[in-house]
Amino acid sequence: MRFKPLATLALVAASAAAAPPSFDTLIARMTVEEKVGQLSLFAPVSAGTVGNPATRQPSAAEQRDDLRAGRITGFFNGQGLAIKREAQRIAVNESRLGIPLLFAADVIHGFRTVFPVPLAEAASWDPALAERTARAAAVEATADGFRWTFAPMVDIARDARWGRSVEGSGEDVFLGRQFAAARVRGFQGTDLAHADTMLATAKHFAAYGAAEGGLDYNTVDLSERQLREVYLPPFQAALGAGGAAVMTSFNDIAGVPSNANPWLLDTVLRGEWGFDGVVVSDYTADEELIAHGVAADARDATRLSFLAGTDISMQSGLYRDHLPALVASGEVPMVRLDDAVRRVLRIKQRLGLFDAPMRGLDGADRTDWPEHRALAREAAQRSIVMLKNDGALLPLPKAGQRIALIGPFAGAGDLLGPWTLFPGARPPVTLEDGVRAALTDPSRLTVVRGSGIDTPLRGGLSAAVAAARAADVVLLAVGEGEAMSGEARSRTDISLPAAQQALAEAVAATGKPVVVLLRNGRALALKGAVRDAPALLVTWFLGSETGHAVADVLFGDTSPSGRLPVSFPREPGQVPYYYAHPPTGRPVPASQPDSFYKARYLDSPNEALYPFGHGLGYGDVHYGPPVLSHTRLPWNGTLRVTARVTNRGTRDTTEVVQLYVRDRVASVTRPVRELKGFRQVHLPPGASESVTFTLTRHDLGFVGRDGRPTVEPGDFDVWTAPSAGEGAPASFLLELSTQHHVGQR
Ligand code: BGC
Repeated sequence: MRFKPLATLALVAASAAAAPPSFDTLIARMTVEEKVGQLSLFAPVSAGTVGNPATRQPSAAEQRDDLRAGRITGFFNGQGLAIKREAQRIAVNESRLGIPLLFAADVIHGFRTVFPVPLAEAASWDPALAERTARAAAVEATADGFRWTFAPMVDIARDARWGRSVEGSGEDVFLGRQFAAARVRGFQGTDLAHADTMLATAKHFAAYGAAEGGLDYNTVDLSERQLREVYLPPFQAALGAGGAAVMTSFNDIAGVPSNANPWLLDTVLRGEWGFDGVVVSDYTADEELIAHGVAADARDATRLSFLAGTDISMQSGLYRDHLPALVASGEVPMVRLDDAVRRVLRIKQRLGLFDAPMRGLDGADRTDWPEHRALAREAAQRSIVMLKNDGALLPLPKAGQRIALIGPFAGAGDLLGPWTLFPGARPPVTLEDGVRAALTDPSRLTVVRGSGIDTPLRGGLSAAVAAARAADVVLLAVGEGEAMSGEARSRTDISLPAAQQALAEAVAATGKPVVVLLRNGRALALKGAVRDAPALLVTWFLGSETGHAVADVLFGDTSPSGRLPVSFPREPGQVPYYYAHPPTGRPVPASQPDSFYKARYLDSPNEALYPFGHGLGYGDVHYGPPVLSHTRLPWNGTLRVTARVTNRGTRDTTEVVQLYVRDRVASVTRPVRELKGFRQVHLPPGASESVTFTLTRHDLGFVGRDGRPTVEPGDFDVWTAPSAGEGAPASFLLELSTQHHVGQR
């Protein structure tokens, strides 16, 4: 007889009030094989593995048998409703216990409607926007039967060589925390039991972005202080927002791969943070313990991964193949197995799967969501960062000028970004389409490719030069293709491919004003004619509404309001590059930038070409000095920091006022600046606004020498500024009150 989970749940709920269901009765009835099945996640063979390396695959018939035998907890990245419907039918009706499947997917930045890549969206500096796009993505993906997303990626990325920078929120801890929490709220909604919510996964735990040399999957070695201060806080923020799943990372930290790291998964995640959700292995990461050289074979890898605290094995099949024997031999205690199974069942229960396993699976495939197009356009507009606008070249008039749109990114392709597995049927709006639609006379636009992404085109340069000569202004669409960023897409050189640089030089040599439209998934090192163009817009991968959004900014229907979530270094050799670095003992004096025996390169200034936080609007914003409510911050008190910003320009603009602090003397080195707040203000021409931030000592803490959180009294600098590279600080004193112990000095 099949188990009736609903009845049991009702009984448990009646007897144990608010306590989560224990699933003891169900677990007691499960065979070890069925238990292990709840910990085994696979790609459906009928869909194949998309976006991942191929693995040994069972036949479709074998996978059906697995479903009937309860050997599978769910599928991931399976396209279409039909296969999910059929699989769920088998699991619920034909397996002994009828435990429903959970369908997962990489819903990273939209589903059918594609929103800007996460790094781009972080450039909006508007977490509420990310919450809205995650919500919309969840609505679309749940209509396709998915209730679990492998997002958000909350890895801090400070090395632009790492291709997966595109998937996160950039280099900064504070910004990263806000976006991590917002995306979780968006995916999970107010209650996971609602039909349009998805379980969110904070990934990749942990420090995946710290890979040596920016090489994907590479080793990581960092101090516990840096781990706790920089790489872990976005995870804490995601879980604090209710995130109920965590994915392990491929890398090792100081010799211990995450899948085999009980300190990370048990001591910190479950112990210190009280996480009671599920930990899923990244794709075959358990099996990779063998290649890491910490497991002798698959059985050993299974034991290490499971005992470290990884609940679910993704795609390798290792748990299915080896956990039963490990339990039989006593190497894996049954109680540990039951705990992991209970966590998975609870998640399925929270998602309402036991109550309504077919919910969301019975409709028709839907590939177009017109109601989300406006949000896609808004998100894309607000992700664009204007780095430069010399001589107020932008915005352009919609009439009167002849425009040449030149470059490999003028037309179709490379619009959606590297993690778009489920794009809708409607093609994305190209730059050409968007610009043409905005022009009063669309025939004034000429479009020439000029170059391939990394190879020259025969006759390309001369066609581009001719088009530029015949135009009044050039829009130069250059940068990276989708295949140049994302997983396994690390680059040693973050500048433009030579073919595109040659195109930029040839076009600039015509003397025509050039607006560079960068397509990119990471910070780039801009050179020559690209760097020197009078106007520069970072347009990332903006998704479904790319062309319209870029045109909205180009022609001034909206003022650009994005700010860089990653510093743009001057030279590729400066990476890893981030603004919040500790000072050295030999800083370069501002008054003598060329002095010797200082921490500087011989061939480049240290400063970023465009610092973190930088971005211009169409206004002309001036900052008053930061005004402090007091010069002393009492231990239990608050301090208000106010910036007065004025738009002296003639156009509406949106300013992102940023608050930074520096701890001048502490028991450990502290970053030269750290973001502690930001606020967007809309400023019509001539308008002023006062923006006030409140600081308490809790904003000033760090990880002390003993590895524990501490706050130390003393002098702090504080900036209210348009970027991490601008502004002059005020200062205040954090006063120690005698009854409070602070960390050792
Ligand atoms: C990636 C994950 C992703 C998983 C499933 C892995 O290669 O690292 O981010 O969620 O594949 O597609």
